[in-house]
Amino acid sequence: MSHAGDWFTLRWDGDAVALLDQRRLPREEVYLRLRSVAEVAEAIERLAVRGAPAIGCTAALGAALAAATSPAVDAAGVQRDVVRALARLAATRPTAVNLFWALGRMRAGLDAAAAAPAATADSIRAALVTLACRIVEEDVAACRAIGRAGLAVIPPAARILTHCNAGALATAGYGTALGVVRAAFAAGRVASVLADETRPFLQGARLTAWELARDGIPVTVIADAMAGHLMKQGEVDVVVVGADRIAANGDVANKIGTYPLAVLAREHGLPFYVAAPLSTVDLATPDGEAIPIEERGRAELARIGETELLPDGVPVRHPAFDVTPHRLVAGIITERGIARAPYAESLPRQLEAARLEARAQAG
Ligand code: MRU
Repeated sequence: MSHAGDWFTLRWDGDAVALLDQRRLPREEVYLRLRSVAEVAEAIERLAVRGAPAIGCTAALGAALAAATSPAVDAAGVQRDVVRALARLAATRPTAVNLFWALGRMRAGLDAAAAAPAATADSIRAALVTLACRIVEEDVAACRAIGRAGLAVIPPAARILTHCNAGALATAGYGTALGVVRAAFAAGRVASVLADETRPFLQGARLTAWELARDGIPVTVIADAMAGHLMKQGEVDVVVVGADRIAANGDVANKIGTYPLAVLAREHGLPFYVAAPLSTVDLATPDGEAIPIEERGRAELARIGETELLPDGVPVRHPAFDVTPHRLVAGIITERGIARAPYAESLPRQLEAARLEARAQAG
């Protein structure tokens, strides 16, 4: 386990996908045991599990579940059921590229398993469960490496501002932006973490505050609108956030409210870092303009619990993500170190190094 240890975000659980239901945090710690692809897809759509790497890992486990629960008796039947599951899972959320990255890996694993000599329904099932569990393990390892790399940009006694939840809850464990926080805290460098509450779904207030407090890391929640004032007062040293998709030129899509934070950081001369695994980098998307931005429904914005906040009939807009232009980003912290501008060169270099290492490890 990658944090203090008595809880987990997601895992393969025999014949099911087990998830901590993040909608019920911080009041209740309830685990879901999902037994079908429909349930897994719904858990992603309804934000029981969220955060780009966690969405990718959950989708990989969902594809493995499709194989494990397929009633087919032959290889072709299992293959057909998994292909159908991949399409359903791909339709859950559009912005986090980790989803499509993980499904692409599961598709390649399926094709390889089906093409193996003497492939059977059971050999495909075993191959996909093994691959999904490997994707989960690799995500935790990547987050730990991000944490180590990020130490280089965290000053002593740092006051770190973060947005949304890019923590253990948003990954298979340890976190990206909060991975940097965890590593810096372990190194004795964190004075405090300011967590934006992150309207409208309150991932900062509910999730970041929960997991940092659980690890004994000093965290203070602020309303999103307070960040500029606190920067001006000299109460922030560095901003570290996660990402849902990083375009080839280094533009970064992340939770709505990230872009104004980057503008504020520039105005106040503060470094603004993005922490993300290379599975979040999408070289096929040239720049931020081309990143699909999810629009979510009215209820998450217009209601708190059962309480309706708005006058009846008044519409809302709810883009769930925004794009921060690469010129506002001081560096992108990945499992292979800190990528700096020009990102169109540094990101492909890191991806190529990772590809060569993976090939060498595969033999
Ligand atoms: O809508 P969410 O909660 O899935 O959005 C999550 C974020 O924007 C995170 O900052 C991002 O996925 C990085 S997670 C390591």
